[in-house]
Amino acid sequence: MLKPEIEDGQASLADPQFRADVLAGLERRPRAIPARWFYDRRGSELFEQITDLPEYYPTRTETSILAQIATELARQVPPHAALVEFGSGSSTKTPLVIDAIAPSAYVPIDISGEFLRDSSRVLSTAYPDLLVLPFEADFTRPLALPRTIADAPKLGFFPGSTIGNLIPLAAVDLLRAMRASLGQGAQLLIGMDRIKDKDVLERAYDDAAGVTAAFNMNLIGRINRELDGTIPEDAFRHRAIWNDDRARIEMHLEATRDVSFTVEGRDFSIASGETIHTENSHKYGARDARILLRAGGWTPVAEWTDPDGLFAVYLAEAQEPRPAP
Ligand code: AVJ
Repeated sequence: MLKPEIEDGQASLADPQFRADVLAGLERRPRAIPARWFYDRRGSELFEQITDLPEYYPTRTETSILAQIATELARQVPPHAALVEFGSGSSTKTPLVIDAIAPSAYVPIDISGEFLRDSSRVLSTAYPDLLVLPFEADFTRPLALPRTIADAPKLGFFPGSTIGNLIPLAAVDLLRAMRASLGQGAQLLIGMDRIKDKDVLERAYDDAAGVTAAFNMNLIGRINRELDGTIPEDAFRHRAIWNDDRARIEMHLEATRDVSFTVEGRDFSIASGETIHTENSHKYGARDARILLRAGGWTPVAEWTDPDGLFAVYLAEAQEPRPAP
C-alpha cells in the first residue's frame, strides 16, 4: 500500500493545474472552468467527431478556403520559409499549407507532447524531405524558436478559429506573443469564424446528434474520473447560447435540479438553473478581425472567405515598430 491514492480513484495522477482551475472555477460566481480542460483523450475524440458534423461548418469551410488559396499563398510567402504552427494538435490542415508554400522546415508547437510526436511522425512520413522540429511548449508566452530556423522567413499558422476561445484581451496578448516569437518580417496565417445568423451558430454548438453535448458533459466525467468527483451527470444539461453583446457562443453546463456533490473532498451545491460556464467561442466580423490583428501587432495583407462568408482566413505581416500617427 505505498500509493493508495493511485489505486483508488487516481486522484494523485491529475494535472495540478486542472485541479486548481476546477476548484477555483466552481467556487467563483459565475462559475467557470477554462475550455482547455475539454481535451483529455475522450474529449479530443469527441472534438474530432464535432468537426465532421453537418451543423459544424468551421472545419470544412476553413479547409476548403485553404485548399483554394494555394497559388495566392505561394505568391505571398517567400520560398523556403519555416512554417510554425501554434497548437498544432493533429495537424490535419497543415498539408494544405505545406503543399502550397513548400516550406524548408515545419515547427509544430503544442502543450501535449504525446499528440505532437504522433502527428510529427505522420507528417515526416508524408514529407520525407521536410525538416520537422516538434516543439513542446506553451505558446501563449513568447518562446525561443529552434536555432535551425533562425535565418528562414517565418510563417505562423493558427487555424481553426482557436483564437475565438480567448476573450479579446487575451487574444491580443496571444497575437503579440506570436509576433515576439516569430520576429520581425514574419507572416501569420490565421483562421477566424465570422458573426452570422444566431440559429446557425447555436446549432453548430448544439447539434442534433448530441456530440457537442457529450463533449461538454465529458468535462463532468473528467472531473469525476481525475478529481475524485461525485457530480451526478443526470443533474446537468448542455447549453449553447449566442451572446450578441459580446459576439460569442457560450457553452454552459446547466443544473436541471438543486444538486450537491464533492470534488477532491470539497463540498459544492448548485441550484437548479445555475450554470458552469465552460467555453467561449468569439466570432469576428470583417472589420472586427482586422482591428484585432492590428491590436495584436499584425497588419492584414490578404483576406479570404467562402462564398457564404461563414469563415475567414487572414494573412498578416508583423508590424514594424514605428511612431504615431
Ligand atoms: C476548437 C475552439 C475552435 O470554438 O468552435 C467546437 C471548439 N467547442 N464545438 C470552437 C468547439 C464546441 C472550437 N475550437
